[in-house]
Amino acid sequence: MSKPRLLATRPLFEPVRNLLDDHFSMEYWTNPERIPRAELLSRVAGKDGLICLLTEKVDEELLSGAPNLKLAATVSVGFDNIDVAACTRHGVVATNTPGVLDETTADFAWVLIFAVARRLLEGVEMIQSQTWKGWDLDQLCGADVWGKTLGVVGFGRIGRAVARRARGFGMKILYSDALRVAEEVEREASAQYVEFDRLLSESDFVTLHVPLLPSTRHLMSTPQFARMKRSAFLINTSRGPVVDEAALVAALDSGKIAGAALDVFENEPNVHPGLLGRKNAVLTPHIASASLETRTKMAMIAAQNAIALFDGRRPPNALNPDVLEKSRG
Ligand code: DGY
Repeated sequence: MSKPRLLATRPLFEPVRNLLDDHFSMEYWTNPERIPRAELLSRVAGKDGLICLLTEKVDEELLSGAPNLKLAATVSVGFDNIDVAACTRHGVVATNTPGVLDETTADFAWVLIFAVARRLLEGVEMIQSQTWKGWDLDQLCGADVWGKTLGVVGFGRIGRAVARRARGFGMKILYSDALRVAEEVEREASAQYVEFDRLLSESDFVTLHVPLLPSTRHLMSTPQFARMKRSAFLINTSRGPVVDEAALVAALDSGKIAGAALDVFENEPNVHPGLLGRKNAVLTPHIASASLETRTKMAMIAAQNAIALFDGRRPPNALNPDVLEKSRG
């Protein structure tokens, strides 16, 4: 029997390729430039499955041009690139990669918190430009992190992993979420549930860990920045459009907040020009989960989802398992 034909929009990693090549007839997009949309549409057209990145949209147009497609596996936990309802209509199982990137992403949220609070980049620049004249009492004085209040917006796996680390810094931990978590989870994280507005007004660091949904788009905009302390910092490792970048720039310009550290942007790879070149904005290119171990695990999970589906099993991370019920029923 011939192997199912899959397109992967990146070469992935060697151990993952080895596994995929055993099970499927694979086509990898290996060009260092990301796959152009037209190329994606034409290459996926005759395939049974697609392994893609969060930068590739799986939408009505793609699905209707790929009538044999049974799987769309994104190598990311966020799946706002996939129109899951359209996948369901087309009988395509969509999968993501939850679980393996929580700790790595939480580590990076702390990289950003410290970098922005302790003016890391200005210090590095002083050394690199050879403008450092030696120790001075008021040189690059930033803000303390230890003992402050951390506000975690979105208390899922990643938000909780960020909160767990805060205990080591003796911080007070507040969280807000659509739903309050169980008491033992709050106890384990030493976190207190508060309404979003209260979190904004009491936190020294507001860190975002929500998925991108219609309800979270521009969750942080002018009224929210106005509620924050003037000494507070915003951290975003979730999705760019959760923050209204124009409003953020205005808040930074007017001193409504002290600074921001962002790993994600509203219109990637573009960055609002008002964020560039500022001392109080630390900007990184969507790398919060980018350790080799974690990215390899993410790709491996996408591969395992594919193998499960084409073996006739339920993929562990199916986002629309109802497709499988229907095809069986
Ligand atoms: C995700 O997985 O959604 C991240 O944004 C990239 O790791």
